[in-house]
Amino acid sequence: MTDAIVEVEGLWKRFGDVSAVEDLSFAVQPGQVYGLLGPNGAGKSTTLRVLLGLERPTRGTTRLFGVTVTPGSRQLVRVGAMVEQAAFVPHLSGMRNLKLWWEATGARMKDADLDGALAIAGLDSAIDRRVKTYSQGMKQRLGFARLLLGRPELLVLDEPTNGLDPGEIREIRELIGRLSTQGATVLLSSHHLSEVEQVCSHVLVMNHARLVADGTVSELIGSASGSVYVEVDDRARALALLSNLSSVAKVQIQGDGLVVDMRDGRRSDVAAALVGSGFRLETIMPTQRLEDAFLDLLAAGESVRPRAGEAVVSS
Ligand SMILES: Nc1ncnc2c1ncn2[C@@H]1O[C@H](COP(=O)(O)OP(=O)(O)O)[C@@H](O)[C@H]1O
Ligand SMILES: [Mg+2]
Repeated sequence: MTDAIVEVEGLWKRFGDVSAVEDLSFAVQPGQVYGLLGPNGAGKSTTLRVLLGLERPTRGTTRLFGVTVTPGSRQLVRVGAMVEQAAFVPHLSGMRNLKLWWEATGARMKDADLDGALAIAGLDSAIDRRVKTYSQGMKQRLGFARLLLGRPELLVLDEPTNGLDPGEIREIRELIGRLSTQGATVLLSSHHLSEVEQVCSHVLVMNHARLVADGTVSELIGSASGSVYVEVDDRARALALLSNLSSVAKVQIQGDGLVVDMRDGRRSDVAAALVGSGFRLETIMPTQRLEDAFLDLLAAGESVRPRAGEAVVSS
């Protein structure tokens, strides 16, 4: 038995000659914000569509809440899914759209979590404006409100920030943050690395239909045992201080600063030690971000095409 909300086991999906997903396995646990990360064509949408019962797997199993998914599965009512652009009636207000849509499902408005949905979507007074006056980002947030009316236990979001500008992307990121603090489980896909890095607790990297790597974001970026670049006012003295920290494996001079290889500590330990000893900390940043890790993984995937589960992340 497992408590996983989503389980995908040995999933294959072919469309004629096109192999969209090959031997993919992963699980999403309650409360995780899980990202499927990969370039266009990697197989992310197909995976989500199979999971939602919109496509049949060629081989393998997908389970939601422990039950195998089939088209029209009953457990799908516990899922809020956004796999296509949400469509609204443009000349009606956001609120009217929400109510119409909810009632069209045969449910009564008093059973919807309208307040909760609006609080998370953050549209404020714009909810009473016509949808045709909305920006793309506002429409996307109205789409979230619509999903949330039914109090879904799992949200499945296919590229939720596609087509949005940076400000709108930040708003969606904050929205997903609010969802997550309320305990929702989220499975989303993205080809934006920085977004997954900022939003997700866990990430699965896909390329050419296959899993390339998976783990926590910090495992993949190597931040738990990675290295950090710092610039301080007195480099020689900082070198001596940091070399004596138990969480630090090695310190080297690089350019105007120091590269600190962490053994098991966190970046904040370096910052705390330096600031605590009276240094002026000018710069501190990870030397390897998910973006680098992702590109490395894709490059490794190109050359060796690892089988699912065999890929290891080197940092
Ligand atoms: N309905 C379909 N018919 C034929 N090929 C498809 C279909 N859906 C997806 N594909 C192909 O499967 C591969 C994976 O697509 P997709 O899952 O959409 O990737 P992603 O969402 O990561 O961009 C692509 O080569 C795509 O062209
Ligand atoms: Mg897609």
